Amino acid sequence: MSVQREQWGSRIGFVLAAAGGAIGLGNIWKFPYVAGQNGGAAFILIYLAASLLIAFPILIGEIFIGRKGQRNPVGSFRIVGQNRSIWTSFGYLGVLTGFIILSYYNVVAGWSLGYIIEALRGVFSGFEDPLMAGFHYELLMANPKWIIGWQAIFAAISVTVVYAGVQNGIEKYSKILMPLFLMILLFLVVWGIILDSEGKGLAFLFKPDWSVVKGKTILEALGQAFFSLSLGMGAMLTYGSYLKSDDNILSSALMVAILDVLIAILAGIAIFTAVFAMGLSPDSGPGLVFKVLPAVFAKLPGGTLFGVLFFLLLTIAAVTSAISLLEVISSYFVDEKNYTRHKVVVIVGIITFFLGIPSALSFGYWKNVTFFGLNFFGMLDYVSANIMLPLGGLAIAILLGWQLKKNDVITELRKGAENIVDASPWSLLSSKVYLSQRFNNGLIWHWIIRYVAPVVILLVFLYSLGLI
Ligand code: PFF
Repeated sequence: MSVQREQWGSRIGFVLAAAGGAIGLGNIWKFPYVAGQNGGAAFILIYLAASLLIAFPILIGEIFIGRKGQRNPVGSFRIVGQNRSIWTSFGYLGVLTGFIILSYYNVVAGWSLGYIIEALRGVFSGFEDPLMAGFHYELLMANPKWIIGWQAIFAAISVTVVYAGVQNGIEKYSKILMPLFLMILLFLVVWGIILDSEGKGLAFLFKPDWSVVKGKTILEALGQAFFSLSLGMGAMLTYGSYLKSDDNILSSALMVAILDVLIAILAGIAIFTAVFAMGLSPDSGPGLVFKVLPAVFAKLPGGTLFGVLFFLLLTIAAVTSAISLLEVISSYFVDEKNYTRHKVVVIVGIITFFLGIPSALSFGYWKNVTFFGLNFFGMLDYVSANIMLPLGGLAIAILLGWQLKKNDVITELRKGAENIVDASPWSLLSSKVYLSQRFNNGLIWHWIIRYVAPVVILLVFLYSLGLI
């Protein structure tokens, strides 16, 4: 086990890869639809609070465990948790969560891939009435061959990328593609605001109606903060394990979190301004983005090109996230079980594909098969994002806040605080931010991780179960 572990070439390499893993369907597809189902602004404010107060400190903690452990989630939890089986079991929980999330992630990513072709075929330009985009979506969902076919192709693409070891190549492209994605999103935001002349979409997004908040709303906002940041199952831990020992964790985590939240909010503005301008319904569930944006592209000059570009970039964002999920699972089997990387990636790819089929069918044939009012897809998504991820986060907070010595933790966290230099275009958002310098003594962070994060997560669990 004494092989030299690969490391990121630069801190920005870590940030780009971690942000690439974090930014994905969670921001563009999931955030708007979950916010829409939960009444908008109040949910969004709770999500922001959960991201800042709970998810961001735990992100730091998760990267910390990876860098200290220098291994996959199981190995790192074992080492940092001083061989206690309780901690190791949270590593296993992470690997299991990875399987579950990847299985249904492939399905939605497949839709995005399929929509590139729909856009190329010029289908969107025929949507004179915005409702037609919704009908078209329903038509596709009723066609298992379409869904499963694209799911398979997407799964094959991510497996190929990891198999061929071209993740580093993707990192290079990310430097260009992420800003391009941001630009398209910004354009859609501006376009949406123009369309939404009565400001109904913006009011839905930013004027909270607290009366809609229930236990479920808070749990889903917390779950969304975890899902969006790829937190609580070891993805960030695995990235952290490749981080150099003198890189400052806090400032890297800050950049990843800011980018991730920013993209979600922008997606929210682009979608909801359009939803209200076109008289569509904000709570139409997992199909929301696919029902709304094609209707926007239909009316946009050059809409076909925009549509192709948008779904292409969304698919690429989904690939970088799927890779991070695959990476968690495969690094476990490679590090702990000594399997060869190539074999593991293919086997995991095949298993998650089959595991995803019931999710794929949840939108058509198995629409009426429900568990606690959710279809199979909805149930997997609910349990993994809202329960398993926050549970993983709780473990990280308790391990760092209570099991390890405060001094050791803080010393590790302060490493690299003095040599924060960053010449990248992202630097505006980055370490030089005053906050990070002040925050860098780590004491506030330790207080949050020891008291605030675990107590809030437990309270949210109890509240959503109706126990308090
Ligand atoms: N954060 C990803 C997204 O927003 O699409 C989803 C995800 C990736 C969740 C990796 C969890 C994970 F480990």
